[in-house]
Amino acid sequence: MSTKNKLVIVGMGHVGAAVLNRSIAFQLVSEIAVIDVDKKRAYGEALDASHSTPCNYSQNIKVYSGGYEECRDAKVIVIAAGFAGRSLPPLKPGETRDRLRLAERNIKVVHDVMTSITRYTKEAVIIMISNPLDITTYYAANFFDYPLDRLIGTGTTLETLRFQRILADHYQIDGKNVNGFMLGEHGKSAFVAWSLTSISGIPIQQFDDYYQPKKLLDRDAIAEEVIRAASDIVDNKGWTNYGIAMGACRIAKAVLFNERSILPVSTTLQGEYGISNVALSLPCIVTENGVEQRFAVPLNEEELIKLKKSASTLTDTLGRHQI
Ligand code: LAC
Repeated sequence: MSTKNKLVIVGMGHVGAAVLNRSIAFQLVSEIAVIDVDKKRAYGEALDASHSTPCNYSQNIKVYSGGYEECRDAKVIVIAAGFAGRSLPPLKPGETRDRLRLAERNIKVVHDVMTSITRYTKEAVIIMISNPLDITTYYAANFFDYPLDRLIGTGTTLETLRFQRILADHYQIDGKNVNGFMLGEHGKSAFVAWSLTSISGIPIQQFDDYYQPKKLLDRDAIAEEVIRAASDIVDNKGWTNYGIAMGACRIAKAVLFNERSILPVSTTLQGEYGISNVALSLPCIVTENGVEQRFAVPLNEEELIKLKKSASTLTDTLGRHQI
């Protein structure tokens, strides 16, 4: 096991670069190496980001670009490599954006990335970001003999952040007071586990009855706003990066500081709710060794149907790509 507190980020597009800058700002590690097929880009991003490090109060963070040999002594590797939606043919009339359309291209990218990483390590905790997240997570976890617990997909961590923000805005309260999860696919079939949602420990319905907010709580509208968020962002700025970077750093922090945080991350299910051979998000304990335990939390009937829909959507996509 590495003694250095080192992070490697693979892929220096908008997302990888945001992860780089967030992890410097949060002083997650003492050393960061970045890798990209475009070596000049990786060099430029590392050089630029390195100039922000004298502003850090405690750590003297070393930032540089390099090759996959940098993975040898990494504690955490973030994979943010791959194509984004704008690489795809334009949507046909009536078609909507769907991360699953990226499967073919990004499975190939993840294949190359994992082949290169596993030449140097099977010890680092890998945090997968590349879309379609649950498909790349399943592929990376199951086809490279990587320790399953050490491969974590960011999953619905991002939907959960969006949900916290949107529900908190509805009630005009602090987003940190929203306790709950979005679960399932990181994508269109993600769902709110309303039966587990509370506001600072007060079950959501009880809080709503007591607080009597100005606007009625429309659960479906809130869930739809979360699902639509990525598309709303892409329509306006062309890509998403800050939310997901924050989600990935949140998971990296749980690993690097052995926080034992419970986070909704994507892992390969092994019979939970009768589901296996697919990766999707359930609440998991995240430690320095990756995912220690996955919780098959009690869901109500409606939520269970939604979870199974997520699983079948992902299983169909895996099947279409012969994974
Ligand atoms: C999003 C991308 C990361 O939801 O899938 O912003």
